[in-house]
Amino acid sequence: MPDRSPMEIAKEAAALRACEMVEDGMRIGLGTGSTARFVLRRLGQRVREERLSVVGVPTSDETARIARDEGIALTTLEEAGRLDLTIDGADEADAQLSLIKGGGGALLREKIVATASERMVAVADASKRVEALGAFPLPVEIVAFGWTVTRDLIVEVLRGADVLGYDIRLREVVGGPLVTDEGHRILDLHLRRIGNPRDLAMRLNMVPGVVETGLFCDICDVLVLGHGDGRVEVTDVLDRKTNEAPAEPDVDNVFADF
Ligand code: A5P
Repeated sequence: MPDRSPMEIAKEAAALRACEMVEDGMRIGLGTGSTARFVLRRLGQRVREERLSVVGVPTSDETARIARDEGIALTTLEEAGRLDLTIDGADEADAQLSLIKGGGGALLREKIVATASERMVAVADASKRVEALGAFPLPVEIVAFGWTVTRDLIVEVLRGADVLGYDIRLREVVGGPLVTDEGHRILDLHLRRIGNPRDLAMRLNMVPGVVETGLFCDICDVLVLGHGDGRVEVTDVLDRKTNEAPAEPDVDNVFADF
C-alpha cells in the first residue's frame, strides 16, 4: 500500500465509518470532493464484494463519472424521489452541525440532494471542525446575468449581517470564471467569521441572482470526523453525543484493502 498522509488517512477513516451506515436497498446521495471520493471507492467495493444493492444520485458530473467507474448504479433525483441517506464532504462544520460546503463548486446539487434525504452524513478530516463558521470563504452560486450587480447587492447584505469580512471574489479557473454543472458562477465570500449562519443564509437567498449558498443549516444529521491516526468521531444531531472510537491498533490494517 502506498504511503498515505495523515490527511488522507483521516478522510478515508471518516468515509469508511460513514459507509457502514449504508444498507442494502438504499437510495444514496453521492457527494463531491476528495473525502466523498473515498466514500465512492468504499461503496464500489461493497457493491462488488458484498453484492450490496444500492442506487446513487450523484451531486456532480465528476462524481457521476467516478461512481460509474466504481460500478455503483446511478439514477436521477427525479427518478429516485426521496433518498435514504446522503454522504458528502464539508469545508467547515460547527457544533450545531451547520456546514460550509461548495469548495468543490457543487453546492447547488449538493444541497438539493441533501435536503431530499432522510439523513445527511458529513464526512471530513477533523481540521474541518470549527468554533464559528467563516474562516473558509463561503461559496455562493449565482447566475451569470448581471453578476456584478448581484455581487454589489451581496456586499450590502453583508454590511447588515454579523460577519467580519466583506471581500468577495469571483471564482476563476484557467481561462476564465468557473462555470458550475448547472451553468452558473460562484462567488467566494471572505467573511472571516459568521456570527449567525441561519440569518445570513436567509438574507443571501433573498438577493436576486443568488441561486444558493454553501451554508448548510439544519440539513446535516451526522458528522463523521476522521483523525490522522485512524480515530473517528461521530456526532449525531439527535443526541448531540460524540462517540470517540479507540485508536485502531494498526492503522495500516484498517486500510489494507485499499
Ligand atoms: C464540493 O462542492 C464541496 O462541498 C466538498 O464536499 C467540500 O468542499 C469538501 O471537499 P473535500 O472533501 O475535498 O475537502
